[in-house]
This record gives sequence, structure tokens and C-alpha cells, in this order.
Amino acid sequence: MPKQAAKYKINELRMNLAMPIERVAQYAVIGNPIAHSKSPIIHAAFAAQTSQMLEFERILAPLDGFSETVNQLISQGYVGANVTIPFKLEAFNLVDSLTERASDAGAVNTLIFNHNQIIGDNTDGVGFVHDITHNLNISFANKRVLLIGAGGAAEGVLHPILACSPSLLVITNRSLDKALNMVKKVKIQGDYHMVSVNAYAFDDLRHQQFDIVINATSTGLTDTLLPLPITIFAPKALAYDMMYGRDTPFMMQARSAGAQVADGLGMLVEQAAEAFYVWRGVRPNTQSIMQIVRAL
Ligand code: ATR
Repeated sequence: MPKQAAKYKINELRMNLAMPIERVAQYAVIGNPIAHSKSPIIHAAFAAQTSQMLEFERILAPLDGFSETVNQLISQGYVGANVTIPFKLEAFNLVDSLTERASDAGAVNTLIFNHNQIIGDNTDGVGFVHDITHNLNISFANKRVLLIGAGGAAEGVLHPILACSPSLLVITNRSLDKALNMVKKVKIQGDYHMVSVNAYAFDDLRHQQFDIVINATSTGLTDTLLPLPITIFAPKALAYDMMYGRDTPFMMQARSAGAQVADGLGMLVEQAAEAFYVWRGVRPNTQSIMQIVRAL
């Protein structure tokens, strides 16, 4: 656990950081692999749009050298970083304090280096919800939602989905015990007692239909088709794959079942916009940048 788990509300954190940065501010995205990351392009576009002076680069950290990499960046005067696969959990354990939403997610994708302290935030959940509710214009309120997966990506969006008050959230996963554990944790916390939260095995979804179906598994990376009943998509359902840059078997299956299909590119840009806002206090307009990133 982080040494001081002071849970910042995000607005309090912004007020603490609201100081002008006179010189060009240095940021990075840390991961392994990292060459594919679109974050430098997205943040450069945000900076140009909002007239912010910053540099943003990709940093490949050795698999056993995440904390050393972070400390090097701090000593070189960097003021923040994004964290991506496979370091989000390590970042969670490294930081001195956490925002509330990073604590809920159990993972950190945004670091703020502030007076020799490392603050950990998580903007993935808010980016995901923003993409669905604003860009796709679909509300979670009173909807039946199916979350497929019980790894880090699913954990990261669990609380933000529940906070949007769906009528039902079902979690399904190849290893059912992990989905059951997620449900158990939600029930123990007791914050979302208005939402019915359950876990089912893939096979047991045969007689259920959902308005929003989210693929938070890593199956898109390996082109694996999930053994889900094709009947899970309600009429006009949204099928959302958190993966981006390719048409996954899940997206193809959902499309053939008549669902509206979206990939995770919007989430990528929105989580970056939220990190940019945390760091710089300015919220970029994501619409034009979404088009640039989609065309890359
Ligand atoms: P991430 O951080 O991307 O969520 P993760 O924590 O390793 O990565 O989780 C991967 C998720 O994809 C898990 O839900 C995993 O299911 P298991 O918990 O059963 O491992 C799911 N997943 C990966 N490969 C899969 C496959 N071939 N079929 C079904 N689910 C798969």
C-alpha cells in the first residue's frame, strides 16, 4: 500500500497544483513496450491547442526498473508522467499519495511530481465514461450493463460505471472466481446499493440481454473470439471494446448481432485529456484531436 494514502478529491488536487509553470514542462509516458504509444502525439496536440509549453516523450522502462525510471525522471526535472502496461499496479504501490479514484481503481495511470512527492491518479475510468456519455451520447442511467473481464482494465472502470447508476451490472469472466470477487468487494463497500451487481459465467448469460456490453478483456490482442452467447445484445445495444486500432472478434460478433460498435480510441484520448487537465488546469477540446489520432 502507498505510504500515505491521503485520498485527494480531484478538485482539491488541482487547487494544490494551481501554480504557473514558467519553463517548458517535461512529461513522459512510461511503459514496456512503449514504441506504439500515441500519447506523445495526443499531448502535443493538446498543448498546441491550449498554448501550453510542454514536452512529452515515450520512456521505455526495464520490466524490473519502473521505480528507478520514475526517480530518474524526477531528478531530471520532469513534472508528471502517464503510466501504461505493465506498470499501473506498480505505480499504485510506488506513490506517496493517491486520488480517491486511483484508490478505487487499484491502479495508477497518471503521476504528478510535486515538491518531491509522487501523487498517483487514475484517469482511465473517467475517460471511459466520458467517451460513452459525451462522444457516443449514451447514458448508463437505468441501463443493463455487461462488463466482460475481471483484470486491471475491468477494475479500472467498475466504480465509474456504478457511479452512473445503471439498473444492473453483470460481470462475466473466463475465471468466474475473479468476477465473483469484484462483486463481493462492491457489496462490502456498499456505496452503490441502488445498482444490482452480479457475476455469471459466459454460458449462464444465454437468457439475458444487455443495453451496454463492454469488452475489458485482452482477447482483442490475440484475435480470440469470446465464447459469449450472440443473444446478449439487446436491440440498439452498444458494444464497446476497450482495445483500439483494430476490429476485434468481439466487435465483429457484436456488429453481426446488430449492435452499435465502438472501440477504445475515444477512451484513450479522453483519459489523456483528463490527465492533461490534472497537470495543466486546462481542459482540451478532444473532438478535433480524436480525428487526428484516428487518421494516424
Ligand atoms: P488488463 O490489465 O488488460 O485487464 P489482465 O489484468 O491480465 O489485463 O486481465 C486480462 C483479462 O482478459 C482477464 O479478465 C482475462 O481473463 P482471466 O481472468 O480468466 O485470465 C481476460 N482474458 C485474457 N485472455 C482471454 C481469453 N483467451 N479468453 C477469455 N478471457 C481472456
